[in-house]
Amino acid sequence: MEQELKNEIEIHGGNALRGTVRISGAKNEVTKLMVASTLLSRPLHLSNVPHMGDVEVTADLLKGIGAKIDYSKQEGTMRIDATTLNHFEAIYHSTRGNRLSVLLAGPLLHHFGKAVVQKPGGCRIGERPLDLHMYYLQQMGVTIEEDDQLIELKGKLRAATIEFPYKSVGATEGALLASIFATGETVIHNPAKEPEIIELIKVMQRAGALIWYDAAENIHIEGTDKPLAVEHPVRIMGDRVEAISYACAAIATKGEIRLEGIEQHQIITPLTALRKIGANIEFDGKAITVSQNGRLQPLHLETDPHPAFATDYQQIFAVVLSLAHGSSYIHETVHDKRFVYLEQLNRLGGKFKVSTNCVPFLTCRFSELHEHTAHISGPVEYHGGNADITDLRAAFALVLAGLLSKQPTYLAEAHHLLRGYDRPIDKLQNLGASLRLQ
Ligand code: EPU
Repeated sequence: MEQELKNEIEIHGGNALRGTVRISGAKNEVTKLMVASTLLSRPLHLSNVPHMGDVEVTADLLKGIGAKIDYSKQEGTMRIDATTLNHFEAIYHSTRGNRLSVLLAGPLLHHFGKAVVQKPGGCRIGERPLDLHMYYLQQMGVTIEEDDQLIELKGKLRAATIEFPYKSVGATEGALLASIFATGETVIHNPAKEPEIIELIKVMQRAGALIWYDAAENIHIEGTDKPLAVEHPVRIMGDRVEAISYACAAIATKGEIRLEGIEQHQIITPLTALRKIGANIEFDGKAITVSQNGRLQPLHLETDPHPAFATDYQQIFAVVLSLAHGSSYIHETVHDKRFVYLEQLNRLGGKFKVSTNCVPFLTCRFSELHEHTAHISGPVEYHGGNADITDLRAAFALVLAGLLSKQPTYLAEAHHLLRGYDRPIDKLQNLGASLRLQ
């Protein structure tokens, strides 16, 4: 890890960020493929593997159940051999967990007929209950006992009809993995459709799994009894959240950043939001270049499951919108407590307010229950100071606020940033930013 023991970021802002950034492999794809490798009867080879904490936490989790992992951080390659699985308990060995343990329920039940999974950690951005995971497992014939820490599962997985009331990324992936070897045809109604899920489906199809969509975009999986294997290395696609983070950094600092290694189709919605705010965006077929040299316009945004505007973008957009002339709002409808970081941005000069009301005419399930609407008035001037990083995506937003301040900024809890961004300090320095870990 990037100087793991150093946990504070010191930033001296004021520079416009300029240059090219190579977007790394997607965190939320690579970690899911690592879990999926436990269903394969031959080693899985991955390339474009990012160097970040979440990959290491997931590798440790898999090693704990007997997988063998060769990970070259330098080359960005990984070989996972899960033919040696010998343990049915998926337990984190470090204090910093992630969301992946619960996705091992299906694979462990397939191998051992029983499983114990530690309740997942990850960012504290809401209650993040596991009811939808427990629901698909119960539908598939699994018996469940749980306490505060652990979930104990038993049973032979059988195909089922699964009707999700909400498009959950993790529950869709979990149900998919659980059904690949279950006898019969499973149908997942109302699945999430994030690009990382499509990549997971593509890889499992390459391995031999029987998966298809119907006209209503429900996912069907016919359980197979044949061994699955992926012959050729799988290249992890570019991380869309990382790409949008650097695009926002270009706009906020009035710079120009060329983003290489990201596909336009993954980021159609946020790119248009950036253009409406005032970004210049150029596509030359090889890269996407984002710049800004005018006055920024306010915008109203709502977060929703893909392909709508993602919840993982809102934090960096909050900083960009705080530089716009006028009032903007962000209505967060995915995670119930994802505005905790605004208090920290306010310590650095932001003027954000939050409310429990939905925005007019758009009522969501959080109405009057959670502070899920951010009211943004701009333009503000960030003035540096001390703040705490509260979660992964907030981390980049707070760094960006620091890069806009002439006085120094000190951010505690830098590990959040390093958990989900590949070498962010190096990449930002290469673009002209003055910051360091200490
Ligand atoms: N939900 C439930 N019950 C469940 C599962 C989810 O109520 O059993 C709720 C959640 O509490 C939340 C909503 O459904 O309110 C969406 O949760 P989802 O299951 O889609 O999220 P996740 O799988 O836990 C992934 C990403 C998040 C991203 C969300 C939404 C990973 C490892 N994490 O989380 O990414 O915000 O989908 O797109 O894939 C990040 O990368 O920083 C990050 C937080």
